[in-house]
Amino acid sequence: MMTLGIETSCDETACAVLKDGRKILSNVVSSSLFKHKPFGGVVPEIASRHCLEQIDFVFKAALRGARVSKEDLDLVAVTRGPGLVGSLLVGLSFAKALAYELGIPFVGVNHLEAHLAANFIERPMPKEPFVGLVVSGGHTELTYHRNGSIHRLGSTVDDAVGEAYDKTAKILGLGYPGGPLIDRLAQKGNPNAFRFTQPKQAGRFDFSFSGIKTAVVHLVKNPPLTPTPAWPAGRLSQRERVKHVPSLSSLSPQRGERVRVRGKFLTDLSASFQETVVRWLVEKTIDACRAKKVRTVAVGGGVSANSRLRSLLPEEASLYKISVMFPPFPLTLDNGAMIARRGYELHQQGRRSDWKLSAHPNLPMGGRT
Ligand code: KG4
Ligand code: ZN
Repeated sequence: MMTLGIETSCDETACAVLKDGRKILSNVVSSSLFKHKPFGGVVPEIASRHCLEQIDFVFKAALRGARVSKEDLDLVAVTRGPGLVGSLLVGLSFAKALAYELGIPFVGVNHLEAHLAANFIERPMPKEPFVGLVVSGGHTELTYHRNGSIHRLGSTVDDAVGEAYDKTAKILGLGYPGGPLIDRLAQKGNPNAFRFTQPKQAGRFDFSFSGIKTAVVHLVKNPPLTPTPAWPAGRLSQRERVKHVPSLSSLSPQRGERVRVRGKFLTDLSASFQETVVRWLVEKTIDACRAKKVRTVAVGGGVSANSRLRSLLPEEASLYKISVMFPPFPLTLDNGAMIARRGYELHQQGRRSDWKLSAHPNLPMGGRT
């Protein structure tokens, strides 16, 4: 069975051909990232225009790469949401027109569910219930998966973790996207140099990442003379009380103010930021697994490329005999193969979409597609 996956939820235009839900025959991505860099973030109008300009070219490149013709396709899977409505509509309209022309079914896919599905292309899906952790530029979601249904356990109450990386990188005067840049700098720094207060949320499995960004602003404006104490060694359950960082309100950089952070201060701050957010993610994910008595976690989304998350989560999870799945590196960022895989799974469950299907910019995980 040949599935075409189409992804246009944000700044990427991507198409992939997947055979029998397992073999990626082609996976073509055209990114508009370079067009957004001067603005320090994604500009929706530029993103949707890029999708419109690229979709036909990317589709044809995916067919050529897979050495198939459009008549060989059996199913079209397309991102329906969440995402930017202008970009989403490009992929959705293209998918409907193609499926209609070829007389084949099409299925709308949830982008976040697809990030987790990227794990199940080369390896089998866990037979038992599992916990999902989606960490991307727009979302941080902890979910419980059982018999094909998805239940939300928690999510961020403010910024997504990728967004926290991107905003912190901006404060540090680095480029966009900030995740890979901070990740690289962090590897040269001391993760114990600075400490940040862990935010408290009402929900046991909810996250908050906006406070740490403000704490970084505070540190950049008032670099401390002496470093704060180190992280406690050993298991996360032995967490100690942390010292409260002084009031952090109204500390954003002034308009036009250029921040220059360099050298050891920059690498130590990057390492400490990374260690902190990764530990928060790891702690809640393991707590969720233990509460739900599951032994597998599947991680997905752009931040699943993070080196520290990839080392710390399996390390801590192994203490509780929990195994962790990360997608292969090329499938961590937005791509068509993950959409094709999720579409294939839904099709196997008998799901088809209606011609009336519309884009859903805030589509929750586990909702009907
Ligand atoms: O999933 P994705 O490609 O797009 C969305 O659906 O949002 O994720 C992009 C996000 C960006 O915020 C980027 O900074 C972050 O993933 N990211 C990383 C790393 N690589 C990408 N964050 C931390 N460490 C990385 N190595
Ligand atoms: Zn994504």
